Amino acid sequence: MIIASVVSTKGGTGKTTTSANLGAFSADSGLRTLLIDLDPVQPSLSSYYPIIEEAQGGIYDLLAFNITDFTRIISATSIANLSLVISNDINNQLINLLLQAPDGRLRLANLMPAFEDHFDLVIIDTQGARSAMLEMVVLASDVAISPLPPNMLTAREFSRGTMQMLDGLKAYGRLGLKIPPVKIVVNCLDQTTDAQMIFETVREIFQDNQDISVLDSTIPAAVVFRSAASQGIPAHRLEYRQPSNRQSPSALSIIRQLAIDVFPQWRDRFEAMTEEKVAQIAKAGR
Ligand SMILES: Nc1ncnc2c1ncn2[C@@H]1O[C@H](COP(=O)(O)OP(=O)(O)OP(=O)(O)O)[C@@H](O)[C@H]1O
Ligand SMILES: [Mg+2]
Repeated sequence: MIIASVVSTKGGTGKTTTSANLGAFSADSGLRTLLIDLDPVQPSLSSYYPIIEEAQGGIYDLLAFNITDFTRIISATSIANLSLVISNDINNQLINLLLQAPDGRLRLANLMPAFEDHFDLVIIDTQGARSAMLEMVVLASDVAISPLPPNMLTAREFSRGTMQMLDGLKAYGRLGLKIPPVKIVVNCLDQTTDAQMIFETVREIFQDNQDISVLDSTIPAAVVFRSAASQGIPAHRLEYRQPSNRQSPSALSIIRQLAIDVFPQWRDRFEAMTEEKVAQIAKAGR
């Protein structure tokens, strides 16, 4: 089981969009995938896709009471192979609870083995701010994906914030815990700006950093991501063919390439997700 978190020390960078689309694409490719919504303030991942079987509980039950009973905390979405732990921390209490608990930052990492036999991939969406919660999620992950807008000021600010967070976690590294690599994906790349130059500069900012790398694949700014979100369907199902009036690739090729870059161990499975295959899945609408 691979645990991937989607993190950023800033809000609105595309974390939920990335979590939802990577998750649904992986599920459509046959991986048993679990989405965890850890954004108590804007729990948008919890309602991103229709839920066909709603569990009573969610993240609060898992983290506050250590409840790992699947029937109580895991909901089924309308997408086959895609399950969800909703964010039900309505009063934003988890953060204080975790700050006070002696095992606070390790709690999620300690609970994850309960999911091991049932899922191939877990994707955790987070709130865009530096907090004990974010550190807890990073400590539980094998890889941290970080969407970043193509903007120099944001990139520098991000660099500082993320490095401070990673520095803060080094103490846990000394205790034998692994700190995951951070993989930046440039999101909302605009066709009209000098996209390539901005991308290269972002790369330069991080080139000497061993813990942070910039992925080759990027996500262009495209209406399809917004329409997919409002319709509650994965972008790769909504647009599996490249529209004839557009230069940029289809949502399917964008998400497929991202999935391959982040999880190279599943490359063959992802490459098998051709236009024809996805067309069938989309038509069956399961
Ligand atoms: N590549 C993209 N192209 C077009 N729109 C995008 C893209 N990525 C994200 N968006 C839009 O930008 C907005 C913010 O994205 P999203 O909610 O995924 O960010 P977030 O990092 O989860 O935000 P928050 O920190 O508030 O949780 C949404 O309206 C989303 O549809
Ligand atoms: Mg979000």
